[in-house]
Amino acid sequence: MHGIIFNQLQKYLRDRSGPSAWLALLNSQGLEKKIYLPTQIYPDQELISLISGIAGNQQKSVEQILEDFGQFIVADLFKIYSGMIRPEWRTLDVLEHTENTMHKAVRHSDRNATPPELLCTRVNQREVVIDYSSRRHLSSLGVGIIKGISAHYGEKTLIQVRHYQAANGEKACKISVTLV
Ligand code: HEM
Repeated sequence: MHGIIFNQLQKYLRDRSGPSAWLALLNSQGLEKKIYLPTQIYPDQELISLISGIAGNQQKSVEQILEDFGQFIVADLFKIYSGMIRPEWRTLDVLEHTENTMHKAVRHSDRNATPPELLCTRVNQREVVIDYSSRRHLSSLGVGIIKGISAHYGEKTLIQVRHYQAANGEKACKISVTLV
């Protein structure tokens, strides 16, 4: 997983639990003194351990933390990738174009980065459906990002998630986002 995501997790924890929480979390997960650089890729398992540690400390589920974290990172993702987000776009336009712009750019800028392949379909003016499948099973992070994008534009959306098993046996889900 991209170092940017770890940097964001550190920022998220500082925001939610104060300046000393990150070092304590690293220690509790056997990652003493670990430094995450925004230009490097790190093992997915380290992100999962850190998220699980935060969930345990806050007595919340991993899914709740992933969703909250997803909402949190949108402000900075929009800053970092601002050149790719057209000024006239709103929530559904950003979702419709995430795969062919932002995620594609992430993949191109770093051959080792592997954001999920999202299949984004604009059903009509008011609805986008995103097919998400990833061996990382982080759909709650995706839902949080969608909530954060909606909040960024001040738009109210209904998000419905249907989990299923894809033909290759992988867990997958369809996320429908409707403007309300
Ligand atoms: C401004 C728009 C977006 C930007 C700039 C962005 C960027 C990124 C980056 C940098 C990563 C890390 C990739 C890696 O470590 O290999 C990532 C992962 C991820 N993105 Fe996005 N993303 C955006 C929108 C979305 C949306 C709308 C979804 C909704 C489903 C989404 C779902 C995810 C998920 C779930 C991951 C975790 C990796 C995985 O599941 O395999 N992203 N994204």
